[in-house]
Amino acid sequence: MKDYLNQCNAQVDAQLERILPIVQGPAEHLFAAMRYSVFNGGKRIRPALCFAAASAIAEPDTTDTSAAVAAALEMIHAYSLIHDDLPAMDNDDLRRGKPTCHIQFDEATAILAGDALQSLAFQQLSELKNISADTALQLVSMLSRYGGCSGMMAGQAIDLAATGQLLDLDQLKNMHAHKTGALIEASVLMGAVATQAATEAQLEALTGFARAIGLAFQIQDDILDVESSTEQLGKQQGSDITNGKSTYTSILGLKQARSQATELYQHSLDCLEPFAERADALRFIASFIVNRAY
Ligand code: IPE
Ligand code: IPE
Ligand code: MG
Ligand code: MG
Ligand code: MG
Repeated sequence: MKDYLNQCNAQVDAQLERILPIVQGPAEHLFAAMRYSVFNGGKRIRPALCFAAASAIAEPDTTDTSAAVAAALEMIHAYSLIHDDLPAMDNDDLRRGKPTCHIQFDEATAILAGDALQSLAFQQLSELKNISADTALQLVSMLSRYGGCSGMMAGQAIDLAATGQLLDLDQLKNMHAHKTGALIEASVLMGAVATQAATEAQLEALTGFARAIGLAFQIQDDILDVESSTEQLGKQQGSDITNGKSTYTSILGLKQARSQATELYQHSLDCLEPFAERADALRFIASFIVNRAY
């Protein structure tokens, strides 16, 4: 399974290299900031979910469609982190063990690098060659909805509005489902849709899986903010507390946060039953998500 994930990483990295070359000239600072934020040691969980969902539906594709979709998802993720770290948002200096984009470059460049990664992600989808135009359009629509103001951006807005306030559990769940769950759900469903072979029933089962593991992902992120170290995380431990964020640990405490993550993990596995062994890669990633230490 590790080999499978390494292979996914190699495929998505090759694709990202193709679309994000080293550019010289007047805009080289912008390209350097984009590359800095994409090739700096992310776990590549969203690409892995995209590939794994595709292989739950169909034979591994040899056309690089999954890799292109995975690259689009990772670029949206990278852009969201650049902006999330800005002084106007979480004001973090450290990401993946290195200075955040606005520290390494400057704020204006970081804003532009995030903007440019977002548009490059949509360019990537709109230029997909080996699928029907209808499917390509469906993928563009999905990424817009899950990444935008009805998904991830809404979550970030709720997160900012709630800073310094205590959310109740339902509000917190809603915030997490948007800010983190939405792109996880997009990763799974877009991977499946790009195969052009997924049935409605399969998409429904994958939606259940993705919602559960997406929420578990952010719960684990909240837990790690409390119990891990800056060195291990590669980002500032305790940032949520410093910023007055409502998190699963601040509202439920560590023990209950852990048991919620475990419950969601179990539920995510139940959703995968119809796929039998074809979903083993998704099972492996789900287990990594709730057991990870970084
Ligand atoms: C961090 O995501 C931001 C959240 C949505 C919680 P990851 O933990 O996937 O970050 P990288 O890409 O591995 O650095
Ligand atoms: C980030 O959530 C979610 C998005 C970037 C959309 P966090 O603010 O908890 O992520 P980290 O902890 O900085 O990685
Ligand atoms: Mg944040
Ligand atoms: Mg943050
Ligand atoms: Mg966090």
